[in-house]
Amino acid sequence: MTSIRTQVGIVGAGPAGLLLGQLLHLNGIDSVIVENRSREYVIDRVRAGVLEQGTVDLMIAMGVSAGLCRAGLRHEGLYLSFNGQRHRVDLADLTGGRAITVYGQNEVVRDLIDARTTTTRPLYFDAERVSIRALDTSGPIVRFSHGGTEHDLHCDFVAGCDGFHGICRPSIPAGVQTIYERGYPFGWLGILAEAAPSSDELVYTYHERGFALFSMRSPTVTRLYLQVPPDEAIESWPDDRIWEEMLERMRTGDGWQPNRGRIIQKSVTPMRSFVAAPMRFGRLFLAGDAAHIVPPTGAKGLNLAASDVLVMARALREFYEDGRTEWLDRYSDVCLRRVWKAQRFSWWMTSTLHRFPDESAFDHQRQIADLDYLTSSRAASTSLAEQYVGLPMEVSFEAAGLRG
Ligand code: APR
Ligand code: PHB
Repeated sequence: MTSIRTQVGIVGAGPAGLLLGQLLHLNGIDSVIVENRSREYVIDRVRAGVLEQGTVDLMIAMGVSAGLCRAGLRHEGLYLSFNGQRHRVDLADLTGGRAITVYGQNEVVRDLIDARTTTTRPLYFDAERVSIRALDTSGPIVRFSHGGTEHDLHCDFVAGCDGFHGICRPSIPAGVQTIYERGYPFGWLGILAEAAPSSDELVYTYHERGFALFSMRSPTVTRLYLQVPPDEAIESWPDDRIWEEMLERMRTGDGWQPNRGRIIQKSVTPMRSFVAAPMRFGRLFLAGDAAHIVPPTGAKGLNLAASDVLVMARALREFYEDGRTEWLDRYSDVCLRRVWKAQRFSWWMTSTLHRFPDESAFDHQRQIADLDYLTSSRAASTSLAEQYVGLPMEVSFEAAGLRG
């Protein structure tokens, strides 16, 4: 058993843990990141890929934007498609020039691992038997095994950035947190295809047969999603069936449709809205998916991880600069304000664009009217646009120790 000492022990090397580690580094605060998967697994895992304007600005301010600036695809609009017609929502025009950037989460993670490596601060991959203890004392411990050796990582604080299935949230004693949750009667079947994107911008489609989404990863790779029943077996979707269904739902009256290509990845993900509050217990602070999950329709998951850790960086900076705990005490409330607005938006986007098994003919017509209103009223599309490009972060970059 060895004993290691750091200021902040970070559990999980996803976007939340890696962004936090870099923000702390920029403030001269030491951290150790402990990840239970391999470097390759973390980098290759296919995830979402939409960065809000504020997330892009944050990565630029943190000096981790070289890849993003080189390969990220800036989108100043998106399409909503229904009744066989695409309607463009001009995000930039409606939000005073703000936009989103399509850049795969796995690319973000790769860039952040490279930045971490450059700092030479520790990042353990393949950690085993990770556990946390003494959370309600001033000396919490992250215990893990690595390469056959047991380590006790002694910290001032533990950042629980280990995602929805991690060990940090379940380490909080029962009764401390309130869980807010809702499920959806469908999932998303997602594919990556070797095909040039046939549209420069995302297309969200509401169709009689269910929701479909056109997205992309690069000038040669298209990313597509289909609403399917929950727990649908991927085996029941041979490639030909996937293409048939995609084209059936997405094809518009003017002949637009996605280009076909070899499918290089396919999987089914369930949809869930989830919040565990407060996001803190003693010296444990949760961030990102460890504390909340949104259905992917609003493309908010990664962006919420970024806004959480910005608040945490500010709080820890103030603690280490002058011993003040005010922002640590406010951490959960400040994060949850933004989290709940993103929860509401993600639920609304999901409800507006999917077919529900128990819906009536009235519900269906109301949904069409919703979409008609959304795409024909400047007030309604402005509301969509400002939320899609991202509501303001609750903390300025300067307050988190960045130059702005
Ligand atoms: N010990 C150490 N690491 C763990 C453990 C554990 N017991 N359990 C999970 N992890 C790791 C996972 O392997 C993963 O690399 O924690 C990391 C959590 O990363 P994410 O799941 O990506 O979560 P987060 O960093 O909060 O980012 C949120 O991820 O799920 C997407 O859509 C979501 O884009 C959003 C983003
Ligand atoms: C994606 O490109 O993976 C993506 C885009 C938009 C979403 C969800 C996922 O709403």
